[in-house]
Amino acid sequence: MGAIATAAPPIEARGLVKRYGELTAVDHVDLTVEAGTVYGYLGPNGAGKTTSLRMLLGLIRPDEGAARLFGRDPLLEGAAALDGVAGFVEAPRFYPYLSGRRNLELMAALDGGDAAERIDAALETVGLAHRDSDKVKGYSHGMKQRLGIGAALLRDPRLLLLDEPTTGLDPAGMRDMRELVRRLAADGITVLLSSHLMGEVEELCDRVAIVRSGRVIYEGELDALLHRASGQAQGWRLRTTDDQAAWDVCSYRPGLTSLASGRDGLTFAADEREVAQLSLALARRDIAIVALVPAAASLEQLFFELTEGEEAA
Ligand SMILES: Nc1ncnc2c1ncn2[C@@H]1O[C@H](COP(=O)(O)OP(=O)(O)OP(=O)(O)O)[C@@H](O)[C@H]1O
Ligand SMILES: [Mg+2]
Repeated sequence: MGAIATAAPPIEARGLVKRYGELTAVDHVDLTVEAGTVYGYLGPNGAGKTTSLRMLLGLIRPDEGAARLFGRDPLLEGAAALDGVAGFVEAPRFYPYLSGRRNLELMAALDGGDAAERIDAALETVGLAHRDSDKVKGYSHGMKQRLGIGAALLRDPRLLLLDEPTTGLDPAGMRDMRELVRRLAADGITVLLSSHLMGEVEELCDRVAIVRSGRVIYEGELDALLHRASGQAQGWRLRTTDDQAAWDVCSYRPGLTSLASGRDGLTFAADEREVAQLSLALARRDIAIVALVPAAASLEQLFFELTEGEEAA
């Protein structure tokens, strides 16, 4: 059994379902995360990311299906199944009136083993060594998030589950958090990270599951997704000296799709050849281009199309 457990992937979930009344928050999710990967669980608000992570961590019971971490089911085996696993959903919780270090000491006492010996290193890794004696209530949001990861590191994890660790952070905080995740991954920790930002997943992850309304609508290598996105028509924003007339020109061009008009001019999707032809067509009508800029990275565009399109039958 021991040999089987070590060979088993860090995460293997089959047919996970969670319902809240009429709503199916997680709808038959299959997920396999192999050792050594940084896996992105990507979806918009309400897609079921937190609910999925809660089931993986054994915090809530799935209505159907099962999850195994390193071959063990947290619902059947309890705490033993979480050996080598750490993480938090939504936001880590601390005693606000105690210092960061004191919080970690209390957690280490609960975890037992040699967790207490890892406190210094954990504080160092997450960049809080110099603020360790400050009360947590005085920590910024980013510092609390980092302390959450510090707490996870006390368990010396081989698998880390992080629920939107950069949400609510400023750009510098996001950069630091991503850098931290990369460093942990380089140390050999397998990471499952939920996010609603395609750019973040693109930057950090090897593999991705895109979820929408509780269902996984894409699963695969990020490279494969990038390849698919490169075949996508790019989105553009266009401002001209006469947007009304430009609209007429655009609406007659078959190579141009998703045409819409907003406060900031027109938006549409087209490949570069079509955009070049359009600029000539506008010039022929004496319509001058004021701005013609790519609206979103094509990968991000693909994400929007996958997650916002018509509800799949
Ligand atoms: N305890 C609960 N009771 C009732 N409905 C719930 C509960 N937890 C989650 N839901 C619903 O399940 C759906 C998925 O929620 P979940 O929190 O998993 O989404 P999420 O992908 O984490 O979203 P976000 O990006 O906003 O964090 C939502 O519609 C939510 O309202
Ligand atoms: Mg969530």
